[in-house]
Amino acid sequence: MTILVTGAAGFIGSNFVLNWLGSQDEDVVSLDNLTYAGNVDNLSSLSKDNRHFFIKGDIGDSKLILSTLKKYNPTAIINFAAESHVDRSISAPDTFIETNIFGTYRLLRSTLSYWEVLTEKQKKEFRFLHISTDEVYGDLDTKAPPFTEENRYIPNSPYSASKAASDHLVRAWNQTYKLPTITTNCSNNYGSFQFPEKLIPLCIINAINNKPLPLYGDGKQIRDWLHVDDHCDAIKMVLKSGAIGETYNIGGNIEKTNIQVVHSICEFLDNLKPRLDKISYAQQISFVKDRLGHDRRYAIDASKIKKELGWQPKETFESGIEKTIKWYLEHDEWVKNVISGDYKKWVDNYYP
Ligand code: NAD
Ligand code: DAU
Repeated sequence: MTILVTGAAGFIGSNFVLNWLGSQDEDVVSLDNLTYAGNVDNLSSLSKDNRHFFIKGDIGDSKLILSTLKKYNPTAIINFAAESHVDRSISAPDTFIETNIFGTYRLLRSTLSYWEVLTEKQKKEFRFLHISTDEVYGDLDTKAPPFTEENRYIPNSPYSASKAASDHLVRAWNQTYKLPTITTNCSNNYGSFQFPEKLIPLCIINAINNKPLPLYGDGKQIRDWLHVDDHCDAIKMVLKSGAIGETYNIGGNIEKTNIQVVHSICEFLDNLKPRLDKISYAQQISFVKDRLGHDRRYAIDASKIKKELGWQPKETFESGIEKTIKWYLEHDEWVKNVISGDYKKWVDNYYP
């Protein structure tokens, strides 16, 4: 058995590949076109693992995708590949439209060509698992109940609109062509290997480098935080037992304002790596201009996946954030390479 993981050199994709190969013996083909967010260092511990194959490629390259599918015969595709950062989608939406919409469309088309000629047994076993986001449901009123799978799609940023479009395409390929797809919509992930453009790694790294910890607007926006290990376990469960054509919300049951999150990071760092002057890292917090169209609140009702598949998160915010902060403190080489851009040198040397 082999699975194809797209976007495998990114944050969640790399965690998923490591989790998968750490817990079972099925081969993984990792495909990633190594944008700024793709970092092969994330998968370096697998360099001698003969169950792992890495391909640099674009999900929109139909010829490459089809030949990869024919060569490795995967029983599932888990599609993590996407442009994922909201702020970038506001200042430069083109790649979001290209990858998240056209890329997903081309990937679906290639997958369908592959799937249509499988044996009936293989067809039944095959899954196309699409990883999406809670942001497609839009901005949630403070008093409104958390998002269920029944909520309307009301995306507000170019990022979430492009993800919503990709979710619709995935649904259409299931409804129209019977491609066995499943979509998951998860909340804000955090954990190891997250690129430091996102709130949590940015604040950890800025704190220890004596830089400001930027909070947009009043900092009272609310997100639901999901540790990436919990997310990976949920995806494996959906892949194994999820119903074809269904969608599953995945969340950490941890709603926090951004100020609370950043204060927690400061408190843990005050203990784990106190500033030389012994003043709390909290004094580095700086309120900055708000994000355009900034959604105030997201929250996930994950009762469907709990009830139907028996999944629930294991990490509390305290256990997850401590683990995450320790990971960044212990991996200063990874951090240095990301900040200096050196992680890109491998790509330039290997694919001149
Ligand atoms: P990421 O930006 O860290 O990684 C994305 C990966 O996709 C990168 O390695 C990048 O090189 C690759 N990629 C981009 N365009 C590609 C293309 N055209 N072909 C092949 N590879 C391409 O993102 P992430 O945080 O790991 O998110 C993974 C998925 O999960 C995304 O689909 C994202 O929308 C979704 N998601 C993320 C979060 C989160 O909190 N990080 C939450 C909900 C959903
Ligand atoms: O909800 C799931 C989504 O979570 C995913 O679909 C996205 O791919 C992922 O990037 C994430 O989106 P957010 O915009 O919520 O994540 P980000 O880390 O960029 O921001 C989290 C919150 O913190 C948000 O309210 C904006 C705020 N923020 C962010 C940054 C980078 C700040 O206040 N300051 C910052 O410097």
